[in-house]
Amino acid sequence: MAKINSNYLKLPGSYLFSTIGRKVREYKEIHPEADIIRLGIGDVTRPLSSAVIDALHSAVDEMGHEETFKGYAPDLGYEFLRNVIAEKDYKARGCDISPDEIFVSDGAKCDCGNIQEIFDTDNTIAVCDPVYPVYVDSNVMAGRTGEYDPQTERFKGVIYMPCERENGFVPKLPDEVPDLIYLCFPNNPTGAVIKKDMLQKWVDYANEHDSVILYDAAYEAFISEDDVPHSIYECDGAKDCAIEFRSFSKTAGFTGLRLGYTVIPRDLTAGGERLWPLWARRHGTKYNGAPYIVQRAGEAIYSDAGRAQVRETIAYYMSNAQVILDGLSKAGFEVSGGVNAPYIWLRTPDNMTSWDFFDYLLDKAHVVGTPGSGFGPHGEHYFRLTAFGSRENTVRAVERIVSM
Ligand code: MLT
Repeated sequence: MAKINSNYLKLPGSYLFSTIGRKVREYKEIHPEADIIRLGIGDVTRPLSSAVIDALHSAVDEMGHEETFKGYAPDLGYEFLRNVIAEKDYKARGCDISPDEIFVSDGAKCDCGNIQEIFDTDNTIAVCDPVYPVYVDSNVMAGRTGEYDPQTERFKGVIYMPCERENGFVPKLPDEVPDLIYLCFPNNPTGAVIKKDMLQKWVDYANEHDSVILYDAAYEAFISEDDVPHSIYECDGAKDCAIEFRSFSKTAGFTGLRLGYTVIPRDLTAGGERLWPLWARRHGTKYNGAPYIVQRAGEAIYSDAGRAQVRETIAYYMSNAQVILDGLSKAGFEVSGGVNAPYIWLRTPDNMTSWDFFDYLLDKAHVVGTPGSGFGPHGEHYFRLTAFGSRENTVRAVERIVSM
């Protein structure tokens, strides 16, 4: 008799953004006239830049000619892309990452979810609370956690590291030593950042305890302040303890195109075994590579024109963030984030629960956001708004929220 992976049964409800989608659809069925503004899921709205579109067109043309047609991509990704990533994302920041330490993929979400496969199920994981749900859920699916406790809203066997306003939404080094540490900076969902000296402490801690840091830097392109590291490899010793994930989704609007990459230093080990060959084996076995045309589009964001266009789009989103920060703080909301990240993290008014505020906002302002408690119990009484809407919708949403 076939049996299911019963770890899946430990997961309560559906994926956070699926639940939100369902709630909005149900609301819309009852209120078809409602003009709903979606600032919930962090999905981009600006069109792809002309450098990317040009690269796509020419790559599509190449695929139509026998001499330039491409079949399967190389396992790690095309060299033209890995070379430019190593040069522009790492060497330019003083990080010694070589092209063959870069694995091109179809996005950071998949890589963050899949990376745990190369680690034993006995490993203890540590996550921030609140946290991007993929890190926890993928470990639950793999059987690396105990049951879900509805009282604490936590999975047994996971080390949760509270991120609160008192600590600037940056966790303290845990007392109980984890094997795998998930960190995401700039942070989703709080929009907080970690300064370089603090990140160095994490790297030192991981090296001291033989832990591996899984560092999600999907939002690094939104960093505007100095002394905020763009990569964990800016810290001394990080190549001995860290894997880094990057995404083209938010940086260059590729949520619908799909492209990302993971850096695994050649000599990074866990329990004396190198991780690079394991991920290479996994990649080669289970994945056929991001499409050639998409990898060419990715390459285009590193050209002079591409970089300028990316900066312009990011500036657009970050001025949306400013509109939200200004509007809501003037109206008396407690807000943070939105300076080095496209997410604004706000305290719900009158101590409302996050889901009550979600319903209230949907009903009274027809604005969709993301309830903080969906990211973990320390997200309760918080709410996330994304800066990825259009300017017009962002302005309208803020006007509606402040006049509720
Ligand atoms: C989010 O809204 O948190 C993100 O869009 C999720 C993702 O990037 O997968």
